[in-house]
Amino acid sequence: MPAVSFQGVAKTYQGARGAFRALDGVSFDIAQGEFFGLLGPNGAGKTTLISILAGLARATEGRVKVMGHDVVDDYARARRALGIVPQELVFDPFFSVRECLRIQSGYFGVKDNDDWIDELLAGLGLADKAHANMRQLSGGMKRRVLVAQALVHRPPVIVLDEPTAGVDVELRQTLWHFVAQLNREGATVLLTTHYLEEAEALCHRIGMLKTGKLVALERTTDLLAATAVTMLRFKTDDAMPPELATQARVTGRIAQIAARDASEVETVLARLRAAGVRVEDLEIGRADLEDVFLNIMKTDGVPSAQALKVSV
Ligand SMILES: Nc1ncnc2c1ncn2[C@@H]1O[C@H](COP(=O)(O)OP(=O)(O)OP(=O)(O)O)[C@@H](O)[C@H]1O
Ligand SMILES: [Mg+2]
Repeated sequence: MPAVSFQGVAKTYQGARGAFRALDGVSFDIAQGEFFGLLGPNGAGKTTLISILAGLARATEGRVKVMGHDVVDDYARARRALGIVPQELVFDPFFSVRECLRIQSGYFGVKDNDDWIDELLAGLGLADKAHANMRQLSGGMKRRVLVAQALVHRPPVIVLDEPTAGVDVELRQTLWHFVAQLNREGATVLLTTHYLEEAEALCHRIGMLKTGKLVALERTTDLLAATAVTMLRFKTDDAMPPELATQARVTGRIAQIAARDASEVETVLARLRAAGVRVEDLEIGRADLEDVFLNIMKTDGVPSAQALKVSV
């Protein structure tokens, strides 16, 4: 039995300007114990899919199950199997951190939970904030409480919707250390993030959504192997010559150009030299998940390993 199963999930929102299809026939399973990354640009449908999983929104078509329980027909069991860290910060300002966690335990019918609450507080770096009121916490600390709240009933499936958006390096590390530990102990994790290096480091498998459709679903290693290309990265103030303009990715002063092998690296460098482009801090490395992601988002449909390759 998969931990999570999406079958033909579609979601249409009715708006003032007609119907909008936010999800369009999404199907995939997440195995028990898997650390799964769901990636996609803003508006791709990640939060919509998670809202359907959490029972906060209804799918227009399709079925979703958590640990075998249908999220509509068997809502209570499906919900209990899930720990969800929402993208938006929502909290009750009048309670202390510990009270919030006790209330959440009560909501799931878990009694005498203080030992686990203490463990969560320690693991998430909140031990000294247990008695603080929620409104006295900084944004990053509130997010830690949301994580603790999601985990308070020891759910087998943990869903994190951009848990590290706008949080400092320390919290990201604390959070990943903690979540990776729970994953090693058997928890299934579904993560959405815009930090691709995070997904690369943590996720066994990655699904990519684009305008409501699943456009990639592969093991992280296979996804990276499919773009086993060399990347030239350097700084420059000069414009790319026209023959390199389409394959170069330029962000401010930083340019990146893909090459298949060493001889193409030489070709690229020769073209830059011929065009009089001054290159500073040149690095030559392997393509990473960001390169894969940008490639997939540029192309249409489920890409084959071939389509993933950057052509020079
Ligand atoms: N309640 C709603 N009513 C109408 N449209 C909605 C609603 N919720 C989301 N949408 C639309 O559905 C699409 C998908 O939104 P969603 O929040 O799922 O994206 P996302 O992948 O989570 O993006 P982000 O990375 O910005 O969090 C967007 O175009 C959004 O405007
Ligand atoms: Mg979202």
